[in-house]
Amino acid sequence: MDNKPKNQPGQEHDYMTTNQGVKINHTDDSLKIGERGPTIMDDHHFREKMMHFDHERIPERVVHARGSAAHGYFQVYESMAPYSKAKFLQDPSKKTPVFVRFSTVVGFKGSADTVRDVRGFATKFYTEEGNYDLVGNNMPVFFIQDAIKFPDLVHSIKPEPDKEIPQAAAAHDSFWDFISLMPESMHMIMWVLSDRGVPRSYSKMEGFGVHTFRFINNEGKSHFIKLHWKPLTDMASLVWDEAQKAAGKDPDFNRRDLWESIEMGNYPEFELCVQMIPEEDEHKFAFDILDATKLWPEELVPLKKVGKMVLDRNPEDFFTETEQVAFHPGHLVSGIDLTNDPLLQGRLFSYLDTQLTRLGGPNFAELPINRPHAKVENNQQDGIMRHHNNHRNAVNYYPNTRADGKPKMAPEDEQGYVHYPQEVSGKKIRGRSEGFKDHYSQATLFYRSMTDIEKKHIVEAAWFELGKVKEMAIRERVVKQFYHIDADMAKQVAEGIGVKPLEQSEVDKIQQEVKAFQENLWSGKEN
Ligand code: HEM
Repeated sequence: MDNKPKNQPGQEHDYMTTNQGVKINHTDDSLKIGERGPTIMDDHHFREKMMHFDHERIPERVVHARGSAAHGYFQVYESMAPYSKAKFLQDPSKKTPVFVRFSTVVGFKGSADTVRDVRGFATKFYTEEGNYDLVGNNMPVFFIQDAIKFPDLVHSIKPEPDKEIPQAAAAHDSFWDFISLMPESMHMIMWVLSDRGVPRSYSKMEGFGVHTFRFINNEGKSHFIKLHWKPLTDMASLVWDEAQKAAGKDPDFNRRDLWESIEMGNYPEFELCVQMIPEEDEHKFAFDILDATKLWPEELVPLKKVGKMVLDRNPEDFFTETEQVAFHPGHLVSGIDLTNDPLLQGRLFSYLDTQLTRLGGPNFAELPINRPHAKVENNQQDGIMRHHNNHRNAVNYYPNTRADGKPKMAPEDEQGYVHYPQEVSGKKIRGRSEGFKDHYSQATLFYRSMTDIEKKHIVEAAWFELGKVKEMAIRERVVKQFYHIDADMAKQVAEGIGVKPLEQSEVDKIQQEVKAFQENLWSGKEN
């Protein structure tokens, strides 16, 4: 048999080379002095191969470490020109390429798919005007209102720092201790304990941008928006018993399902929908529309269908695509802008910052998966792993007279990206508006909108998760929070985890307090 080192089918040559392009004629033995002697430094092929292997790992994402992704395209149903000037939202015949990464949040890169957790749903649109990222989740709200609490939230939910136990999300003292002290998390907790926390398939769950963004049209008119993905197939979740068994028998359950359905031509499809509030209605609602722990009830702000996304191609290489992709909520194109949502504002700092470490320096936008399909030209240069030459001449500053002013600003007839000229005023304080302080009404709305079997699943999920909490005082505090949402649910949870239900007089007192607070907040507003 020919013992020359062979390459994989599909590679250009049928022989291997070193990283310097030199053909290799033997890779089964290292270079030695004699048959039983030491390996010698001359063996550059060995050293190069081993050096590369030794450095294969990069830091996993600090959250959302475990992910699976797919390529596809997006098309609008009709022009969104009345609302947004974004070019990829104008022409129904145009297909914009996308890359979507689904993820769990808490587990490590090698953890099981079917745990109770939030799922990430991040989409990169490679538009003709540059990259637009919609970095969302499968639940429409979030645990906290302000980004400054994010490190605490994540520390509490990740395994405890001394023993790295437990790996399972949400099932331990630290997390429930934090939650019991964080009433703003109650709405999200209802979603996490519901069947939404264990989706059957990535193609059978919704996605939400969560934050309030803006659309801006060509006349400069702005609407506040929330973006949603709706699966074009049915929605489905696992029951908890299935989820636990799948986690043991097939930890790749959701990943395999995504890969195989695309290989079989059964392409996941999602519809992008938008809720819009005209700028002048910003203060019409009982909740603050900048609060990421609140959704906008669809009866108040209906959904408009925008377009369809089809995921029709698996990645060719997990690492260079799924692992190295870098999403950022600040990757925006003209016609879409930010708002002052304090959770969103903090994310704008966090993603770039973490990616500098995770992807080893400032040039990760040059990686093929991150590279916009629009041309990138500016005066940035150098840095670790730089390989794109921007200048092609000696002039790397602006303004200049030496290179015909290159690179220029966007031509005047085509403004380039301009931020919405929002007026801002106020004192510099650490605080939040009153509208942020109603932590229970939407949690109640969610729980009471469930069918009986869905309510039962929420109660049972609470039994499982809180049943793992060792400190009784933590269980009691969480149950007390639940009494602010629904007394019957709280009582059922209490009875399943050995907590004494509250006396009726205490329940009445809590409910009166909640009601009085809400009525005061809501007077004259829509909710
Ligand atoms: C990933 C921070 C809230 C969705 C990440 C990463 C960080 C982070 C550091 C890792 C990024 C990377 O290594 O590339 C934060 C902070 C938040 C926050 C500081 C709040 C203050 C949210 C919210 C959502 C969300 C509200 C959903 C709307 C995601 C998704 C990913 C992610 C989907 C994974 C992206 C991917 O697949 O690569 N987040 N996050 N995050 N975050 Fe957040």
